[in-house]
Amino acid sequence: MSDPAPQDPRPNAPAHVRHARLVAWVREIAALTGAAEVVWCDGSQAEYERLCAQLVAAGTFLELDPQRRPGSFLARSDPGDVARVEDRTFICSQKTEDAGPTNHWMAPAQMRELLQTGEQALFRGAMRGRTMYVVPFSMGPLGSHIAHIGVELTDSAYVVVNMRLMTRMGRGALEVLGADGDFVPCVHSVGAPLAPGQKDVAWPCNATKYIVHYPETREIWSYGSGYGGNALLGKKCFALRIASTMGRQAAQADGRGWLAEHMLILGVTSPAGRKYHVAAAFPSACGKTNFSMMVPPPAFKGWKVTTVGDDIAWIKPHADGRLYAINPEAGYFGVAPGTNEHTNPNCMAALQRDVIFTNVALTDEGDVWWEGMSETPPAHLVDWQGRDWTPAGARESGENGKPRPAAHPNSRFTIAAANNPVLDADWDGAQGVPIDAFVFGGRRSTTVPLVTEARNWTEGVYMAATMGSETTAAAAGAQGVVRRDPFAMLPFMGYHMADYFQHWLDLGDRLARAGATLPRMFCVNWFRKGADGKFVWPGYGENMRVLDWVIGRIAGAAGGAENAFGTSPRYEDLRWDGLAFTREQFARVIGIDRSAWQQELVLHAELFEMLEQRLPAELPATLARIGLRLGA
Ligand code: GTP
Ligand code: SPV
Ligand code: MN
Repeated sequence: MSDPAPQDPRPNAPAHVRHARLVAWVREIAALTGAAEVVWCDGSQAEYERLCAQLVAAGTFLELDPQRRPGSFLARSDPGDVARVEDRTFICSQKTEDAGPTNHWMAPAQMRELLQTGEQALFRGAMRGRTMYVVPFSMGPLGSHIAHIGVELTDSAYVVVNMRLMTRMGRGALEVLGADGDFVPCVHSVGAPLAPGQKDVAWPCNATKYIVHYPETREIWSYGSGYGGNALLGKKCFALRIASTMGRQAAQADGRGWLAEHMLILGVTSPAGRKYHVAAAFPSACGKTNFSMMVPPPAFKGWKVTTVGDDIAWIKPHADGRLYAINPEAGYFGVAPGTNEHTNPNCMAALQRDVIFTNVALTDEGDVWWEGMSETPPAHLVDWQGRDWTPAGARESGENGKPRPAAHPNSRFTIAAANNPVLDADWDGAQGVPIDAFVFGGRRSTTVPLVTEARNWTEGVYMAATMGSETTAAAAGAQGVVRRDPFAMLPFMGYHMADYFQHWLDLGDRLARAGATLPRMFCVNWFRKGADGKFVWPGYGENMRVLDWVIGRIAGAAGGAENAFGTSPRYEDLRWDGLAFTREQFARVIGIDRSAWQQELVLHAELFEMLEQRLPAELPATLARIGLRLGA
């Protein structure tokens, strides 16, 4: 096997690396994995371009027509490696109860044996014949008191270039780290060592996958996948699973702690120049990127929506008692299908240059296409698996009456935040932005109304905790199945879900007692369907009408009617100028069907039963109150 050679042939760290612990760890992992070479990444543009050229030469990247899509590439993944793998994702806390019933758990010693220490450990020799890249990155603005540093060791150049767009990567992060700063070690291998002379494939990966987190020692180990959140370890693994445990642990030290949330952050400025900030949690592929880049409809002249972040928020109480949020990321890994000039013109503008596309279709002109980009697909495409694709052929080979898609449903684009034409002026600010409202929303074709404001913090936490959503292509497995997805965090929680509810309740309680104004809490659903199977609510830019009501509630200007869950707008409480949406249509997106909700409350109770051992008493008490109000 590849035991550390007494004289390691791999070069030492470059002179500017002053962190002895980091250097020792890099040597240790290089020895374990048997990497042929170690490359320390500096995060420069030159390095990015060199790696992209290398990926083109290797056949992983196809360069798009530079006239149509300058600086852009298409990658096609292995068909078995197209999304996050939730059933292969583990929280390896010392005690199984600390991971809680919503996470997969294995004892740390057992997992380490499997991955690192055992005779047949998966990482032993995993990088043979490959280069191991050292990727230092900052989650959050460099040097911000809310930010944290990570270092990912990876044998995938595709991961390196994506990390460069998605995070503040390279020399700057190393400088913040200094000689002995703390960092989260992240080890990633595609799990496809190369024998001498063996030809590589375009998308190396392994059928065996492990996405592993050790919350107590704050380590991440990922094996077998090169795709998205499985491999770009700063994102879900660090910024949500590990960071959520860090934020809660911090509460034990300072009595408040902080929050790591699956939330977009947007700024919304009124024509009078008053600016609000909203953080919204929707599950994967349920509209965060779109909401964060929304173009208000023409009737909302003078209103402006700007993006602070599109996927993750780190939120901390500030000296003034308010909650401030930063976007720990520096780029977007967004869903391609459904994105077009009507649904998200800002995103289409952001995709004009310097994009890495993964698993979209290729046009004959050397450009990209995906379902929903245009109403009529091009007459010929090369699909995400590199096969010829025509509309007629797709209809013939389709399933469930739907044509075979040219782009994978979870095909994605990677862009730097700087590409976004409506990037918020404060997006990179070290202090973050003050949050005025939290919005929670799932994908529900029935039952859940367009928008409801919670009566208070506790009922808001209840709303978020009991949220359900239909599963999407962002994760491997069945789609369209309603499951509880508390706070849109089900796949991303680093500890016991009930302890997390308690953390939210405690934080609100402490801030309120200190006299702070808490953000208001809302629940939304853009996805109710009619009998024809179509979405009733037009969504996208028209979501501005809901955002306008949310702001109106904060400002004390917008009316509503109380229901069992909180307050929802009546027809006359929303602005309708410029949209033909009748009272009858509105009734279909806002209505509360009592029997559907009685069934829904049973599902809430089931979730609470699962979490019973650590569940805060306020939550079942709230359930009982809602049940009474509903007349259950
Ligand atoms: P992740 O990156 O997986 O976290 O997804 P996300 O939450 O950022 O979702 P995104 O904004 O990329 O949207 C996912 C899908 O939902 C896309 O196909 C969108 O076109 C669609 N979508 C977004 N907003 C709306 C909406 O308001 N109404 C409808 N009907 N669809 C929407
Ligand atoms: C999600 O699934 O919520 C994503 C995509 O944002 S991934 O980075 O793959 O997690
Ligand atoms: Mn996401």
